[in-house]
Amino acid sequence: MNVVAVINYKGGVGKTTVTANLAAELAWQGKRVLLIDTDAQASLTFSFVKPDVWDSTYKDTKTIKSWFDAISGGAEPPSLEDFVITPREANLRLRKNGGKIDLICSHLGLINVDLELATLLGGVNLNQTKRNYIKVHGKLREAIQALKEKDNYDIILIDCPPNFNIVTKNAIVASENILIPAKPDYLSTLGIDYLQRSVKELVKEYNEYAALDPNGEQISPDILGVVFTMIQITSGAPIRAQQQFISQTKRLDVPTFKNYFRENKTIFASAPQELVPVVLNRFPDGTYSNVVEEIENFVEEFDQSLLGL
Ligand SMILES: Nc1ncnc2c1ncn2[C@@H]1O[C@H](COP(=O)(O)OP(=O)(O)OP(=O)(O)O)[C@@H](O)[C@H]1O
Ligand SMILES: [Mg+2]
Repeated sequence: MNVVAVINYKGGVGKTTVTANLAAELAWQGKRVLLIDTDAQASLTFSFVKPDVWDSTYKDTKTIKSWFDAISGGAEPPSLEDFVITPREANLRLRKNGGKIDLICSHLGLINVDLELATLLGGVNLNQTKRNYIKVHGKLREAIQALKEKDNYDIILIDCPPNFNIVTKNAIVASENILIPAKPDYLSTLGIDYLQRSVKELVKEYNEYAALDPNGEQISPDILGVVFTMIQITSGAPIRAQQQFISQTKRLDVPTFKNYFRENKTIFASAPQELVPVVLNRFPDGTYSNVVEEIENFVEEFDQSLLGL
C-alpha cells in the first residue's frame, strides 16, 4: 500500500481537484483507494459528500477532527477505520470495476486542532520536548501503519491544506510519496522551491529526534514530482506565458510530470456539486473528452512513477 500526500503551500492551485480525480481514476482501474481530507476548508469532503449529509451524519463523530481531538485529549487515538465513510455517488460509477473510494472527511473546526496539538509540544527538558515532537508529528503515521496491516487499501491519498501546520506535517511524516500540484506562474514556481526545502527540514528534524527513541522509525518521503494544473492550451501546447514557468520549474531540483490538468472552468467547477470527479464522466468528444484523456494519461504516468519507472 502506498501513502501519498498531495501538497503545495499555495492555495487554489488544484490540489483537491488533482486528488479527487487521481483517486477516481485509480479506483476505475480497480484499486481500493482511501482519501484523507486534512484541510479545514473540507473541499475534498464536499466534492464527494453533500453538505447536509455531512452535517447530519458525519460532522460530530466521523471526521479527521474527531480523530485528532482524541489525541489532543490525551487518549490513545482510536483506529482510523472507525472514521471511514464510503461516498455513494462516486462509488455507484465504480460498481463494475472492483475498485472503491473511501473517505475520511474533514471538518471546518480542524483549524483549532492545530492549536491544541501545539500545546502538547512543550516539555520540561530538551529530551522530553524531542519525544513530544515525535509523538505529535508521528500520530497519523502510526495510525496509517496500523491500517496497512489490515490490507483494506491499495493506496491512501492525503489532501493537504495550503499551509505547513502540524496537521500537514503529520501528513508528510505519514507519507512515502509527495505529489505537488502547481499552476505554472511566478509565485507558484517560487513556492515549489520553498516547499521542497521545508519538507527536507521536517524530515531531517523528525529523523534526528526519532533516532533518540529506541522504537523511533526513520522517514524518507520521496517527492514524486510536480503536476501542472490549469494549463491553457493553444495549438496543442501550453500558452507561452505558462511554458516559461514550466521550463523554470524543470530547472529546479524536482521531477515534473509530462501530463497535466488542462484548464476548463466549466467541467471542473461543476464536478464537486455533482459529487463525481471529472474523470469518471464520459463526454462524447471535443475539449471535454480531451480533459478526461489527459487526466487518464497523468494517472498512468503517476502509476509508473510510483513503481519507480
Ligand atoms: N484544471 C482546472 N481548470 C479550471 N479550474 C480548475 C482546475 N483545477 C481546479 N480548478 C478550480 O480552481 C479552484 C481551486 O481548485 P482546488 O480546490 O482543487 O485547489 P486547491 O489547491 O485544493 O485549493 P486550496 O489551497 O484552497 O485547498 C476550484 O474552484 C476549482 O474548481
Ligand atoms: Mg484543496
